[in-house]
Amino acid sequence: MRIELPRYAERFGAVLFHDLQKVYELDGGMLVDEAFSNPFHVIQQIPLERLHEIEKDLVIVIPVRNERLRLLEGILSGIPHACLPLIISNSQTMPIDRFRMERQAVDTFCRYAKKNYVMAHQQSPELAGLFQSAGYHALLNEEGLIRNGKAEGMIAGLLLARLLGKKYIGFVDADNYFPGAVFEYVRIFTAGLSQSSSRYSMVRIQWHSKPKISGNGLFFAKWGRVSRITNSFLNRFISQYTGFETDVIKTGNAGEHALSMDLALQLEYSAGFSVETNHFVNMFEQYGGIHGNGAAVEAMQAGVNLYQIESRNPHLHDGKEDGHLEEMIESSLSVLYHTPLCPELLRHEILEELQRLNILKNGQEPALPHRYPALAGIDFDKVVKQFDLEKHSNF
Ligand code: GDD
Ligand code: MG
Repeated sequence: MRIELPRYAERFGAVLFHDLQKVYELDGGMLVDEAFSNPFHVIQQIPLERLHEIEKDLVIVIPVRNERLRLLEGILSGIPHACLPLIISNSQTMPIDRFRMERQAVDTFCRYAKKNYVMAHQQSPELAGLFQSAGYHALLNEEGLIRNGKAEGMIAGLLLARLLGKKYIGFVDADNYFPGAVFEYVRIFTAGLSQSSSRYSMVRIQWHSKPKISGNGLFFAKWGRVSRITNSFLNRFISQYTGFETDVIKTGNAGEHALSMDLALQLEYSAGFSVETNHFVNMFEQYGGIHGNGAAVEAMQAGVNLYQIESRNPHLHDGKEDGHLEEMIESSLSVLYHTPLCPELLRHEILEELQRLNILKNGQEPALPHRYPALAGIDFDKVVKQFDLEKHSNF
């Protein structure tokens, strides 16, 4: 792959928030061109072998809830062979068992392709049992099962990826119409992760565009309604601390993102669709150095790298209704509003914005989404013995 070097970055404590990088060539060729090592070159060539090396250690978690089966098969076809797809489904099992249909489709596809996979239902007692024995009860509801929600499915995927001994974890939504875009996302994940000299890194994808039907043609929108608002407030947060206005954050809601396992296990999570914005908020909290934090000493020393990379493919996924978007705006801004680090002025601006959008009434505060502690404290060796991999996989 040939991509721009991460040239500009905003430092916030131990975190380097790198500005958007552009992809030049999705396939950068087999031979490494030495001209790219010239320090004045602004493009880098990442050798295919390096991308493959990371792919072998990369799990791609696909959270699914009642999506079209055909789309799921398309996603699998776009994931490079060396990566392990891990499907966490929260699809209905009653009265129609959609999960069974998904399982059959995935199993058949992977047998034909001779592709390894792992798949589990979010509500399976066995999956919940892993969290029970890990002593990680925050993810469980009153019935002792994993709570509903996308973030909750992602956290379940994270534990499984760790039990499988993987070093990297990426997330790709299941409602994507273009397998080629999924392929590009995974290549971007590996290219991004390959740049970090620290064990703590994250890559987030900024879609090139989101095509919409408008009149008789297509309109390629650049910014979604939610991300425009989230990015603006995350940038205001940084600006208020540094005293310099910035627009460095462009991926506040990026559903497509990947992390090194070391960082993924150390982050604290937030429920549902606030999960992606909370990555930033939690990085400010843990690595911003504002209140000091003993637990994150190693990462503070090593530094944390956040890369944002723009895809070449447009993103076409299933449109969701307005209520869903409003919920996403509220929960995204809520995690920023409720962090003890949020300056009073910014809190006030968040309330004003939510009132302007008629999401909150005067005097109301945004509801704080449920929070989940970091998984780093779990005794994984103890938990791994309980996981019946054969039952959930095709190896
Ligand atoms: N396992 C699981 N459990 N998966 C779920 C659940 C759940 O409770 N709810 C939704 N999903 C799956 C969906 O099937 C889809 O594959 C993915 O999570 C994203 O859900 P969507 O409903 O398609 O969300 P969206 O398109 O509005 O938002 C996506 O993009 C945003 C960025 O624009 C999400 O990825 C957001 O998290 C992201 O911020
Ligand atoms: Mg979607």
